[in-house]
Amino acid sequence: MADLSINFAGIRSPNPFWLASAPPTNSAAQVHRAFEAGWGGAVWKTIGAPVLNVSNRYGAWHYGGQRMLAINNVELISDRPLEVNLKEIRDVKRHWPDRALIVSAMVESKPEAWRDIVMRIEDTGADGIELNYGCPHGMSERGMGSAVGQVPSYCQMITSWVTEVARIPVIVKLTPNVASVVPPARAALAAGAHGLSLINTINSIIGVDLDTLELVPNIGGKGGHGGYAGPAVKPIALHHLSSLGVDEEVRRRGVPISGMGGITTWRDAAEFLLLGATSLQVCTAVMHYGFRIIEDLVDGLSAWMDAKGFKTIADVVGRSLPRISDFNDFDLSFRAVARINPDKCIKCNLCYVACHDSAHQCIDLVDAQGQVVTPYRYDPRSNGKYQALSDRPQPVVREEDCVGCRLCHNVCPVEGCIEMVEVPSGRAPVTWRELTEQRREVTEDWAAMERYRREVGIEIH
Ligand SMILES: Cc1cc2nc3c(=O)[nH]c(=O)nc-3n(C[C@H](O)[C@H](O)[C@H](O)COP(=O)(O)O)c2cc1C
Ligand code: SF4
Ligand code: SF4
Repeated sequence: MADLSINFAGIRSPNPFWLASAPPTNSAAQVHRAFEAGWGGAVWKTIGAPVLNVSNRYGAWHYGGQRMLAINNVELISDRPLEVNLKEIRDVKRHWPDRALIVSAMVESKPEAWRDIVMRIEDTGADGIELNYGCPHGMSERGMGSAVGQVPSYCQMITSWVTEVARIPVIVKLTPNVASVVPPARAALAAGAHGLSLINTINSIIGVDLDTLELVPNIGGKGGHGGYAGPAVKPIALHHLSSLGVDEEVRRRGVPISGMGGITTWRDAAEFLLLGATSLQVCTAVMHYGFRIIEDLVDGLSAWMDAKGFKTIADVVGRSLPRISDFNDFDLSFRAVARINPDKCIKCNLCYVACHDSAHQCIDLVDAQGQVVTPYRYDPRSNGKYQALSDRPQPVVREEDCVGCRLCHNVCPVEGCIEMVEVPSGRAPVTWRELTEQRREVTEDWAAMERYRREVGIEIH
């Protein structure tokens, strides 16, 4: 059985799953229960400057049948007294020496305020400290949170105040509300951070109530931007995570990264590991389903690692990073076409409509006699009882005209019904970078581009 234990900048935990700094880590009672359920670690709800919270502070985005595909919040850091938090942190750490207990902190941007909070956190016996440079609402208006995380020089300055005095590992939590997380990450590392974590929440507005015209959620007649998290943000989190994983400066420092943003299942967890995360933090999924999801996370990840022959988490971390590339290095001669499996097809025509209206008009509807028909040439009431399904025409891709855009594959409701199949293009591999180096005129002049297409046999549909 795979060994799930990790060592994150000297912080050990029996599995890579940590609760993120958020409502599930607001009190000792909660963290005790989470550790009983099997969580490997917890990052305590951010403590620091005095705050007051408001009601109606969590909005949510529901889509289709899925509740809380994303959560949006205007919650601030912990509103419980600092002394109460510190006492509870000490108590939890004493009871759970084998679990990772990290304390998230955010105070005013003054050296004495940061030094003071670091000392007080260290006195609790906590394993590490996470600097919250990510909160995009409330705290940022006061010059904290993402107001720091968005400015690399501030990240460097504040991190150095902390690393100068800290005797426990310092993790810097980055905001995704930037064009690139690399400059703030480099700045934090230059100041001696021992680890990075990301992503904090994304600035967002959930919506407007069409009856009252109020913002959702409505806070006494007002609303505003809040932090977005949950399954919907996972692709953004993976992008930011991998941008750190491929950055030479970040790699050279060799510090571990704690990944989060939308992790709900063991599959999500495995993807974050493959793109460079050493530990995994979870917030929204626990707010939705409770601490018990840890059982599925651990069992699923462990079974997948066994099936793949990975013995330790370190074997998985960053395994897919060498595949990260960008448009400049994609093979322009790579060709794939859509192929529909008629045995799986339920003839819903979604692929036909998508290709016809939004792609390259290369799916035909073929009737039982092998004739291509228009959608209006057969009885439109042929759903269900009027006509047997087998009488409806079958969508068939004209592969020679298909550009392989993958839209039909994405809209098809039947898993595995439309496959994208690699086919020979008959052209030598070439990337945009190579084309720019070898035939610059082709990339700058449309007439030269047309000549090049004719020369190599690229036909545009
Ligand atoms: C209601 C709520 C409160 C949060 N409070 C904090 C906080 O106090 N400190 C912090 O660093 N992050 C906070 N976060 C951000 C989470 O720690 C995490 O970075 C983010 O939610 C992404 O993870 P997820 O998609 O698993 O929720 C909060 C998130 C939510 C939804
Ligand atoms: S891959 Fe694109 S072009 Fe090809 S059949 Fe599907 S939608 Fe049409
Ligand atoms: S979308 Fe899928 S199931 Fe529907 S008609 Fe096309 S191939 Fe068949």
